[in-house]
Amino acid sequence: QTLRVGIHDLAIATGHHVLELDDLAERLGVDPAKYHVGIGQDAFSVPAPDEDIVTMGAAAAKEVIDRHGVEGIRTVLFATESGVDQSKAAGVFVHGLLGLPQNVRVVELKQACYGGTAAVQLALGIIARAPHERVLVIAADVARYDVDTAAEPTQGAGAAAILVSADPDLIEIEPAAGVFTADVDDFWRPNDRSTALVDGRLSVSAYVDAFVGAWDDLASQGGPAYGDIARFVHHQPFTKMALKAHRKLTQHVGVPFDESELALGFTYNKQTGNTYTASLWIGLAALLDLDDDLAGERIALFSYGSGSVGELITGIVRPDHQQHRRQGRVRDLLEARVPLTVDAYRELHAAGAATSEDVERPRVTAAPYRFAGVRGGARHYEATA
Ligand code: CAA
Repeated sequence: QTLRVGIHDLAIATGHHVLELDDLAERLGVDPAKYHVGIGQDAFSVPAPDEDIVTMGAAAAKEVIDRHGVEGIRTVLFATESGVDQSKAAGVFVHGLLGLPQNVRVVELKQACYGGTAAVQLALGIIARAPHERVLVIAADVARYDVDTAAEPTQGAGAAAILVSADPDLIEIEPAAGVFTADVDDFWRPNDRSTALVDGRLSVSAYVDAFVGAWDDLASQGGPAYGDIARFVHHQPFTKMALKAHRKLTQHVGVPFDESELALGFTYNKQTGNTYTASLWIGLAALLDLDDDLAGERIALFSYGSGSVGELITGIVRPDHQQHRRQGRVRDLLEARVPLTVDAYRELHAAGAATSEDVERPRVTAAPYRFAGVRGGARHYEATA
């Protein structure tokens, strides 16, 4: 009998604050429709001063561990573009906060927004070799661009924790994958910067090229026909990006384009903003929470990391997936965010760069874990309760 491997559980977390794009539009003298319709975003999450990728990643992972325990977890893979240390993996902080057993390997992965999907692929490989194990994948990011740039409204913050296992509850991932790499300077972040540099137009065309390229590769690897895929979920730097790429694919394949079939996967990302490595998985969470019964249906997941790497994978939704819906939980999480004025957001943005200077952070977040500050140059985290 063939071993089924895939996604057993999925949880998401986001920042403590929210900035409504209507407020940013008013400040910048931009028609709000440019944001709501033109880029397809309504708001973005902003971390509190005592939040970062570690606290958001740990919050998402806690939910998964609370449901499943730590049994079988021998690997933690943390994917991020916005790492907090050049040496220590963010997952080691999470390991400590969650009290995971010592007999666990932990490592951090990076390739812009693609790292989460790379981590899931590595996890699937580990499970194929050791089916009794489980791999905890965490994807967390704070998307930061300079203020007063075209990219400012496409910031955001969030995390996803994905438990990868044999005989999964949610999605069985199929073996064929379409991959695509091209060396392109569309978005990058040099080591001395806390905000990304981006060539917006190039990034949009590089994303589309990677999607179509990954599709062709998937086809060459024996992947399914377009008509055999019930839903697509895309990396969503802004939700309109998914529509642009998908329209191009339908032209490429020669099939009609239906916007409505993509829109359910946009619901959460429209509110969190870009979450880089977590974006695709937050999109998947929205689809699984909100769509009709998808049992037995094939879904396609497209990941894109600037620079650039794209990957398209497919999976079959498991029969009992609806028992694991978290719709109310995510709605509460989004509604609980504390709104910021544009001035307050910009103050937080200016203070947001990582530092090795000793500093204590004010107690703000209501999440389970907080970044307490830097002592002796080292970051310290603690439970809030
Ligand atoms: N009403 C409705 N729509 C309006 C409008 C209005 N009043 N005014 C403008 N628009 C529309 C425009 O027509 C345009 O639509 P189309 O793209 O369909 O033509 C859209 O709003 C955006 O307007 P602009 O083209 O003027 O865009 P901009 O210069 O303001 O910037 C951006 C848009 C380039 C995406 C910029 O936000 C950016 O650089 N973002 C960061 C980069 C990014 O997210 N790239 C995505 C691919 S890279 C990736 O995926 C990796 C990653 O996560 C970063």
